[in-house]
Amino acid sequence: MFEKSVVVVTGGAQGIGEGIVRAYAQRGAKVVIADVNVELGHQLAQECNEQGYSALFVEADVSKEQDIVALMQQTIQHFGTITILINNAGKFEHVSPYDITVAQWHNLLQTNLTSVLFCSREAAKIMRTNELGGSIVSLASTRAFMSEPYSEAYAASKGGIVALTHALARSFGPDNITVNCISPGWIETGDYEQLRAIDHEQHLVGRVGVPEDIAQACLYLTNPANRFVTGINITVDGGMTKKMIYEE
Ligand SMILES: NC(=O)c1ccc[n+]([C@@H]2O[C@H](COP(=O)([O-])OP(=O)(O)OC[C@H]3O[C@@H](n4cnc5c(N)ncnc54)[C@H](O)[C@@H]3O)[C@@H](O)[C@H]2O)c1
Repeated sequence: MFEKSVVVVTGGAQGIGEGIVRAYAQRGAKVVIADVNVELGHQLAQECNEQGYSALFVEADVSKEQDIVALMQQTIQHFGTITILINNAGKFEHVSPYDITVAQWHNLLQTNLTSVLFCSREAAKIMRTNELGGSIVSLASTRAFMSEPYSEAYAASKGGIVALTHALARSFGPDNITVNCISPGWIETGDYEQLRAIDHEQHLVGRVGVPEDIAQACLYLTNPANRFVTGINITVDGGMTKKMIYEE
């Protein structure tokens, strides 16, 4: 299904991004791991290649325009084209809205939201020259729709991704490029065994999520058979945001 695909995964060195990299590699795609974490990025690319898959690590800070341009150029030089972009890189910060500085706000928005626009711009320039077209998927969050205290910049960045998704889907549609986003709920990227029963029970499906749950949604949204799907957000949260909780 993905043998002809060249996939760029930002923030692909660990966590959800790593799960996405493995899912595409296992399905025959050529995968570019773009990350600031050089050690883990190289390690994952090497592991994939030793298993007979095709992966390349590119050091890139997606909050920097010049790194984004260089990332896409290196992808073209190595694999010839780009058919899928997964905008996964992102970070979270707890800061009180009483204390947040302009610099903190801009820094988080630059990493989580501005990067999505400019990675999409550079990838789409290549995708529109492909016979197969292209697919862009960005990682938003259920925090685009609900909040804990002190998460204003993160929530705004993820809400921005949901809006940017339908805007880009509209603009890139005529060039045969689909644009969608995924809102993960609680996806455990650390030690799953440390989770408590109460953590699992707050999900309708009875468990906390894992990176593979998000990878499955990426595969769906970038499957050439599903090109009728564009401009949408898919919530992948085990039903956590649908569970009404009253105090007992
Ligand atoms: N884990 C969750 O529960 C959850 C829930 C909702 C949304 N998300 C979103 O999913 C995405 C992945 O989350 P995760 O939990 O795997 O995070 P993570 O922190 O485990 O991994 C993020 C990766 O992105 C990389 N990265 C960070 N800033 C970067 C930059 N400027 N340039 C390039 N790479 C950069 C990091 O080095 C790391 O490899 C993020 O966008 C996050 O906001 C995660």
